[in-house]
Parts: sequence; structure tokens; C-alpha cells
Amino acid sequence: MTSIAEEQILNALKTVKDPDLHRDIVSLGFIKDLKVEGGTVDFTIELTTPACPVRDQLKQECESKVRALPGVKEVRVEMTSSTRGRSRFESATVLPGVRNIIAVASGKGGVGKSTVAANLALALAKTGAQVGLLDCDIYGPSMPLMFGLVGRQPEVTADEKILPLKAHGIRLMSIGFLATEKAPIIWRGPMVHQIIQQFLTRVEWGELDYLILDLPPGTGDAQLTLTQSAPLSGAVIVTTPQEVSLIDARKGLQMFQKVNVPVLGLIENMSYFKCPDCGHVAHIFSGGGGEKMSEELGVPLLGQIPIDSAVVETGDQGTPIVAAKPEGQTAKIYQIIAGAIAAQMSIVNMKGGPAGPVNIKWETKKS
Ligand SMILES: Nc1ncnc2c1ncn2[C@@H]1O[C@H](COP(=O)(O)OP(=O)(O)OP(=O)(O)O)[C@@H](O)[C@H]1O
Ligand SMILES: [Mg+2]
Repeated sequence: MTSIAEEQILNALKTVKDPDLHRDIVSLGFIKDLKVEGGTVDFTIELTTPACPVRDQLKQECESKVRALPGVKEVRVEMTSSTRGRSRFESATVLPGVRNIIAVASGKGGVGKSTVAANLALALAKTGAQVGLLDCDIYGPSMPLMFGLVGRQPEVTADEKILPLKAHGIRLMSIGFLATEKAPIIWRGPMVHQIIQQFLTRVEWGELDYLILDLPPGTGDAQLTLTQSAPLSGAVIVTTPQEVSLIDARKGLQMFQKVNVPVLGLIENMSYFKCPDCGHVAHIFSGGGGEKMSEELGVPLLGQIPIDSAVVETGDQGTPIVAAKPEGQTAKIYQIIAGAIAAQMSIVNMKGGPAGPVNIKWETKKS
């Protein structure tokens, strides 16, 4: 029986390119466990993230390229992933075990940052990734309400480690789990820094592919401290279509550029309203702002999320829309955006990350 040479198969697979990384999948190291037995070819494609948006496309392309080789009767492809991230992350003193730390920020308040952060975390988790969500908004924590966890407190282990709470398959931490509802939270600047340090050093996150940080609004000292305290891999800026919001978003972008954190892209929230009855699309705020800004600043527009009353309802009821209505249009848009973020993160990591701020000395001392 003639057997096909492995080299022939690899040559065929070399013609398949990852459209985001712009390199062939063999030289990227994606092909594992190649086995040829008679006319049957088995191999595994190991992607850089479970949230890869071109997963099915790559699988089909590989299958058809190999099937076209003379002598091949059957092709069996297994898809798997090993999320790339910070190099030497296991030995990192801050957040060991966390491969990618992504901040969700905006210059202006109320644009939907917390909603976006929560739903993105859920959308990434739906792809099979291990995800954590850290609510860094000390003054106005949103996560306890959004996840129906008001009044819940995290467990603290004998060695003083704080265990994150779990909801809908993600791990969560918020100052709202540590402060009582009635006591007003009045933190002074240095205390904010200390609390964030505790979140970064004392919370037992375990192994995570992505840790999403919901930042407080603005680009002031508190935000700057935050961007310098966490070894950020990348940032996403949330904006709404109005010009006034874009001016603030631009400030957010510049803040990350200043500390060398790559901005993975923009998300335009409340972009348009689609009438559920007639399907008419209305741009309630003047449209196209996100697109314009993306062009002007050379950062990708990762997606546009419509105004959807179900976003508010589900958020208030303790189950964000991606978990509450996974088949709905808004959840699907979130899923696409999560894929785009994961792809952007992979691109940054493949370029020789880690992409964290290089000019910052991390404070690792426990307080
Ligand atoms: N796409 C959307 N459609 C409709 N309502 C939305 C949408 N996105 C967010 N909202 C609503 O807008 C309000 C503000 O959202 P959110 O709290 O996420 O904003 P934020 O930017 O985190 O605010 P802050 O600056 O106070 O932290 C919430 O009531 C939320 O449910
Ligand atoms: Mg918020």
C-alpha cells in the first residue's frame, strides 16, 4: 500500500494562511500530532485562542487541501487551542497563571463599559476560554448587581488568599463583595491603589486565558495608577457615537499609548436602534463616530453594539444579555467582538509580546 509522505501533507498545509497573523499555519506551529496510516490522515490544529473567529474556516481549508492530495481517502482534523499570552506568565509575581490581562476603558462615564466588560467576559468564556472579570471601579462597583451577587462575600483561605466568586462560568471580583451596602465607600487615592494591589496579588484567580478589567470612567490619576499597577496585555476603548464621547475616548486611547499598552481596538456602544417590528435601523445619536475615530487613530473598530432594552433589563436582573439571551442578535454581536479581541490579542502576542508597559516597575510588595 502506498502511503502519503508527511512532507507532502505539510507542504499542502503550508498553503493555508491564518488571515489575522498573516503567516502559514505550519510555520506558526499550529499543526500537531500528524499521523498517516494508509490513506487516512490525522492531525490536530492548535489555535492561539479558543475564541479564534476563523476556526471553522481554517479547519475546512485544511481538510480540503489535504483531501485533494493523491492517495488520501480520509482526513480527520481535531481542533484545539493553547492560548498564547504573557511570556513566563507562570513565574510572574503579579497575577501568575493569567495569560492575558485586558482593560476595558473609556474617557467618559456611562457609555456602557461595565456592561461591555461583563458581556465580553461571558462571550469569551462561551468559546471555552477560562475567564476572570475584575471590577476596578472602587467608587461605583457594578458587578455584584449585574451578576445577581449583591450581599455575597468571597471566601478567604487560611493563608489570606481571596477566592473569586463564580457566575455563569466566569470568576469575579469586585470591591462590592468586600464592602457592605450601607457603608458609603470613601477611599482616598493611596487606598485605591492599595485595594487594586490586593486584587492583583491576593485574589486566587488560578489559571486564566483572559482577565478582563472593568476600569472606572475617566483618564485621571486613578485610571493611570491602574494602568500602571496591572501588567496589562492590551486595552479596549468603549465609546458612543457622539462627538463629545469620542473626544473622551481619544484621551483614553492616549493614556494607554503613554504607558505602552497596546490598544486592541474600539467598541462603539449604543450605535443604532433596530426596530424589532419593522427592522428599520435608526441612528439615534449621529452615526459613524467610531468608524471615523478608528480611521483617524489607526486602531480597529472591533464592533458596534445596538441600543437594546434587553441589555438594561438583563443587567438589572443579574444575568447579562450574553448569558440571558445567547441566541439574540446583541449576544451574537458580542460573540463576534470577543473573537475580534482574542484575534487582536493573539496578533500582539505573536509579535513578540508581552505587551505590558515596559517603563513601569511593578509593585509586588504585599501590603
Ligand atoms: N447597548 C445598550 N443598550 C441599552 N442600554 C445599554 C447598552 N449598554 C449599556 N446600557 C445601559 O447603560 C447604562 C450604563 O451602562 P454601564 O453601567 O455599563 O456604563 P459604564 O460606562 O460602566 O458607567 P460608569 O462610567 O458609571 O462606570 C446601564 O443602565 C446599562 O444597562
Ligand atoms: Mg462602570
